Amino acid sequence: MHADKVLIHLNQIFCPNDKGRALRGKEMGEARLMEQGYIAIQEGKILAVGEGTPPDSIIGEKTKLIDCTGKTATPGLIDSHTHLVYGGTRENEFAKKLNGVAYLDILKEGGGILSTVRATRAATFQELYDKTAKLIEQMLVHGVTTVEAKSGYGLNWETEEKQLKVAKEIEHHLPVDVISTFMAAHAIPEEYRTNPDGFIDLIITEMLPKVKEQKLAEFCDIFCEAGVFTAEQSRKLLQAAALQGFKLRIHADEIESIGGTDVAAELGAVSAEHLMVITDEGIEKLSRANVIGNLLPATTFSLMEDTYAPARKMLDHDMAIALSTDSNPGSCPTANIQFIMQLGCFADKLTPIEVLNAVTINAAYVVDRADSIGSFDKGKKADITLFDAPNIDYPLYFFATNLVTDVYKNGELVVKNRQVIQ
Ligand code: NIG
Ligand code: FE
Repeated sequence: MHADKVLIHLNQIFCPNDKGRALRGKEMGEARLMEQGYIAIQEGKILAVGEGTPPDSIIGEKTKLIDCTGKTATPGLIDSHTHLVYGGTRENEFAKKLNGVAYLDILKEGGGILSTVRATRAATFQELYDKTAKLIEQMLVHGVTTVEAKSGYGLNWETEEKQLKVAKEIEHHLPVDVISTFMAAHAIPEEYRTNPDGFIDLIITEMLPKVKEQKLAEFCDIFCEAGVFTAEQSRKLLQAAALQGFKLRIHADEIESIGGTDVAAELGAVSAEHLMVITDEGIEKLSRANVIGNLLPATTFSLMEDTYAPARKMLDHDMAIALSTDSNPGSCPTANIQFIMQLGCFADKLTPIEVLNAVTINAAYVVDRADSIGSFDKGKKADITLFDAPNIDYPLYFFATNLVTDVYKNGELVVKNRQVIQ
């Protein structure tokens, strides 16, 4: 079978192993590295990957050879945790943060997530769409080809629905796959300040069935945190969501450890997010229950904390981990997944191979798309990120600079010389 196009002369190609489940522990330090490689694409899918000159058998008269001298390739990067769609911004809280006011105290005063809720409720669909499209373009030029998107800045049906529909619309117009997570349980809305249980019931009985019926999201998530939702409330919501056919995630052990990891392990969540203050026992439980730890080191950075998730300890206990941005207007305003990857090394003390597995194959399992993305196995989507780099170590070492020059989505060039092309 002939390729439509072949990327040739790649310095190095990072090829994760797809074992049919997320890589865990020592496996995360393993991958195949192709030197002077090629990637052959046919009808938007991977046809072959190898070293040296591509074999004659895949080169036909119409095959286009694309010289990639100076570039290093990875599978398209997957940002598996974002709060993508929101109104307004929160730079007004930055000075407070710099003066030492805590994130949860800002929320308690009606700011933080609740201030974004007010702005998101007030925004029109078009305003939200335009803002999200701009953010996605920033993510794309940093090498992302798939993004998970949570709702959670509506906290009422009308606005949660609006956010989820914006995320769907993005996928129709921009070269990115969007996987949606319903997260109405992101904060206690002002209307339910004295009755959070009532809000959980409202989500279970009124909102989840509508999300399902309209196919607006496939995952359900909750912020299990001191002063937000308890472990008991999280258990109740996620149990109900599982019964209604949702896959589960949970924001757990971000600032205080209040039992979210127990809930994740008990209910077999696909992923547990943050885990900055996870206990040794929590690590054991997640490892045994095959819950992927989704680590968000730029949130620790942006909250100006020193409690980075204990990534090495997690790997020592044979856990699977992913890394993602947590892109949101409050605790992590960024669109640059490369910075997160670099923090994966600098702060979480992961190796470049572990980091790259975390944002490719393991992130593909976080979004439940490993059948089609996350590695260069034949037949997967030809989603490819090219770095201006001599090898895979370089983009982790040369930090805070966008080294992605080109991106292919479904075999089409969508970012060229650091610009999105339409
Ligand atoms: O993952 N922790 C809860 N949610 C987000 C923050 C959202 C916000 O501050 O707007 C997070 O960090
Ligand atoms: Fe988050």
